[in-house]
Amino acid sequence: MITVNLVEKSYRNGDVEHKVLKGISLTIETGEFVVLLGPSGSGKSTFLNCISGLERIDRGSVCYDGTDITRMKERELTAFRRKKTAFVFQAYYLMPSLTAEMNVRMGANLVGKKDVVPLLEAVGLKGKEKKYPSQLSGGEQQRVSIARAIAKEPEVLFADEPTGALDEETGRNMLRYLIALQRERKITLVMVTHNENIACLADRIVRMNSGRIISDEKNSPKTVDEIGW
Ligand SMILES: Nc1ncnc2c1ncn2[C@@H]1O[C@H](COP(=O)(O)OP(=O)(O)OP(=O)(O)O)[C@@H](O)[C@H]1O
Ligand SMILES: [Mg+2]
Repeated sequence: MITVNLVEKSYRNGDVEHKVLKGISLTIETGEFVVLLGPSGSGKSTFLNCISGLERIDRGSVCYDGTDITRMKERELTAFRRKKTAFVFQAYYLMPSLTAEMNVRMGANLVGKKDVVPLLEAVGLKGKEKKYPSQLSGGEQQRVSIARAIAKEPEVLFADEPTGALDEETGRNMLRYLIALQRERKITLVMVTHNENIACLADRIVRMNSGRIISDEKNSPKTVDEIGW
């Protein structure tokens, strides 16, 4: 279980302080699929970065099964993230000097698994293993980034608009795959999206606006084939 309590986060721009997260509290159950919805600039990515331990918060706490990660030293936090979590970034963040296969292997190496080709096949990138990120389309890079995160076999997966660069068919395939894996391995999945239809797939829908949670509702999840796009 992840317990987020009164999290605050600001960014400074010269003398101006911009408060992006204004006291957010949220509990996420183990194995739950939670979607975060909200307008652009409402703080979704910042919130995901903060609860995954990628960014430090100013105030509040983020506990995983009772352990407050905001109190961890850098080295301890890095080890925690490496062991437990994976992240699909809005901007992919692939290593430009590594091929698709090597990028995914970087994720897989962490759990001692070597063969990542089936994973690339699963995300529809068979034959693209040896391409570098600069030789791939945005949607292909996004899928490498999804494969890399899954390769880590995380307990908690954070995904920031993981289908934002994909066309409908590829997007649906990717969600089908991700959610099947999440259900099967009981992964806790926290996904950011703009798409109200995608939100219908989740166990819980959390809406943000201007750095606050404005609603938090349980949902009876639909299947990928039942939603619009
Ligand atoms: N590193 C940073 N330095 C300064 N300001 C930042 C930084 N990161 C985010 N912000 C500001 O925080 C606010 C929230 O940004 P965030 O990226 O969390 O929004 P978002 O909800 O993910 O938006 P989008 O849907 O467009 O991705 C924005 O006003 C943004 O300008
Ligand atoms: Mg964002």
